[in-house]
Amino acid sequence: MEYRTLNTGAKMPMIGFGVFRVPDKAECEQSVYDAIEAGYRLIDTAAAYTNEDAVGQAVRRAIADGICTREELFITSKLWVQDMVNYETAAKAIDASLEKSGLDYLDLYLLHQAMGDYFAAWRAMEDAYKAGKLKAIGVSNFYPNILTNFCETVAIKPAVNQVELHPYYTQEAALETMDYYNVVPEAWAPLGGGRYNPFEDEMLLGIAAAHHKTVGQILLRWNVQRNVVVIPKSTHKERIIENFDIFDFSLTDDEMKQIASLDMGYTGSRAKHFDPDFVRMCLNNKIHP
Ligand SMILES: NC(=O)c1ccc[n+]([C@@H]2O[C@H](COP(=O)([O-])OP(=O)(O)OC[C@H]3O[C@@H](n4cnc5c(N)ncnc54)[C@H](OP(=O)(O)O)[C@@H]3O)[C@@H](O)[C@H]2O)c1
Repeated sequence: MEYRTLNTGAKMPMIGFGVFRVPDKAECEQSVYDAIEAGYRLIDTAAAYTNEDAVGQAVRRAIADGICTREELFITSKLWVQDMVNYETAAKAIDASLEKSGLDYLDLYLLHQAMGDYFAAWRAMEDAYKAGKLKAIGVSNFYPNILTNFCETVAIKPAVNQVELHPYYTQEAALETMDYYNVVPEAWAPLGGGRYNPFEDEMLLGIAAAHHKTVGQILLRWNVQRNVVVIPKSTHKERIIENFDIFDFSLTDDEMKQIASLDMGYTGSRAKHFDPDFVRMCLNNKIHP
């Protein structure tokens, strides 16, 4: 396993397992268990995915079965915008994430979006970090201008920024800003999130064949090789195993450039953060009464 070192000194695995859109508890628990068995140590959930409990269940099962220890795991969850109203709502939601997952601490907790009163929410996260409930705190979907203002303002700097990153939306400028503030980039939708049809792209198929790998493995390796943590999601065991197997080969500089040439800029993004309708949709998405 390769790691990135966070501004806390903790080591974050370069590959993790995502569980967005796996609402079925049994399916989520089994796929997280399969992932841990396959070697993944980072699991990425969120309060908004409504499966923190299933993730916790899988973690406990894996530990009980002797696959790994809690210390070897790196469990991430995220604060949803509904709870980013003020300090108190955020503090309550952090405790709810811990309670639902049944874990004593989370290795990383993220502001899911730069929405609501995210500065007040961050102060609650800073206090939970100081109390040892959260081992690292970070942000998600913070575009460079927002991240810059945030890093220049808050007391404890974010350790991670989880954003959409794949060859169709490379976000080079965003990576530069993260690098400047020592914020580790983490790619959501690293396989394209079910869009763009990369698995039939001739150029990607050619590179995959040259390395005796699959297109999925090429997409993940491309991000890892530019120092970006990836968190692919799959509910198929064979794909879970396949996606993890990306550390025994390297892409050439030319291949890295060819893959990056797929970039479509903001047109290639799945989540439309600059669209007022998208912001309103997030603010209206209630995950609890
Ligand atoms: N912070 C945020 O705002 C945010 C937003 C979105 C996602 N995320 C996180 O990022 C994680 C990953 O993003 P994502 O789930 O949207 O997209 P993704 O991981 O890029 O793609 C998942 C899709 O690819 C398929 N797939 C997986 N492995 C494959 C393979 N080897 N070959 C072909 N198809 C494959 C999956 O299908 P099967 O499951 O059927 O295999 C699923 O349809 C999420 O689970 C979540 O943890 C965060």
